[in-house]
Amino acid sequence: MRALDGRVILVTGAAKRIGRGIALRLSREGARVIIHYNGSEAEARATAEECGGARTIRANLESVAEIERLFEEAGPIDGLVNNAARFTTIDPLKVTEADWDFIHSINLKATFFCCQQAARRMIAADGGRIVNLSSLGGIRPWSHNAHYCASKAGVIMMTRALAKAFAPKVTVNSVAPGVIPFGEPDARTKHLIEKTPAGRAGTADEIAGAVLYFLTATNFVTGQILAIDGGLSQK
Ligand SMILES: NC(=O)c1ccc[n+]([C@@H]2O[C@H](COP(=O)([O-])OP(=O)(O)OC[C@H]3O[C@@H](n4cnc5c(N)ncnc54)[C@H](OP(=O)(O)O)[C@@H]3O)[C@@H](O)[C@H]2O)c1
Repeated sequence: MRALDGRVILVTGAAKRIGRGIALRLSREGARVIIHYNGSEAEARATAEECGGARTIRANLESVAEIERLFEEAGPIDGLVNNAARFTTIDPLKVTEADWDFIHSINLKATFFCCQQAARRMIAADGGRIVNLSSLGGIRPWSHNAHYCASKAGVIMMTRALAKAFAPKVTVNSVAPGVIPFGEPDARTKHLIEKTPAGRAGTADEIAGAVLYFLTATNFVTGQILAIDGGLSQK
């Protein structure tokens, strides 16, 4: 018997990078994962194959109507992993309204409405588990990512508030990744890796391990934020 045998888990932004790593890990643990994607259709299909023929659903999470359609198509789910997000680096003196909305429409607004869609269904059924991906940037201030840091700090407080709102049937927790690079890291990422007490960057599977913990924990674990960052948030 594996930890997630028989459970249906929707992972947003699961075509590649951390989302793919989460989907693969949950699938290995027995879950029937649903791979959500937006632009990365080929990668989503490849990830779905790697997960033993998982379902894929496309939706642009900028739109609440699209989010509603995503959850209708997904059907009953036991777990939701809100992984889809955007990241930009811009001097706060130069951030425009469009720059702000680009980040917040996905990182905060879409995460909220995905939580709402999932919780309505889970509360009406047997309950469920929600895991939101926040970030070290929601805990520590990064001067040229103020708009992004604000969105991820919002995810952290939203997680805590929704944990109260959706208890006792649905738990809501958050994993806050540190530096998880894909490909050759840029100068700023290299600097962050050098400062990381663990002495290295993290991997998608290390993030997936924390997600798995929250998906399999009892309802006594809710409203928690787990930084998986090699100790960088302690500096
Ligand atoms: N990588 C890191 O070092 C790091 C550090 C801290 C926190 N995190 C957090 O961990 C999570 C995963 O990180 P990542 O670096 O793997 O993420 P990512 O590659 O930047 O984004 C994940 C996915 O989000 C989806 N997405 C973006 N805009 C969308 C939209 N309008 N509609 C639907 N989906 C959309 C994309 O799907 P498509 O490609 O299909 O369009 C993308 O593949 C994120 O929440 C991120 O903020 C990552």
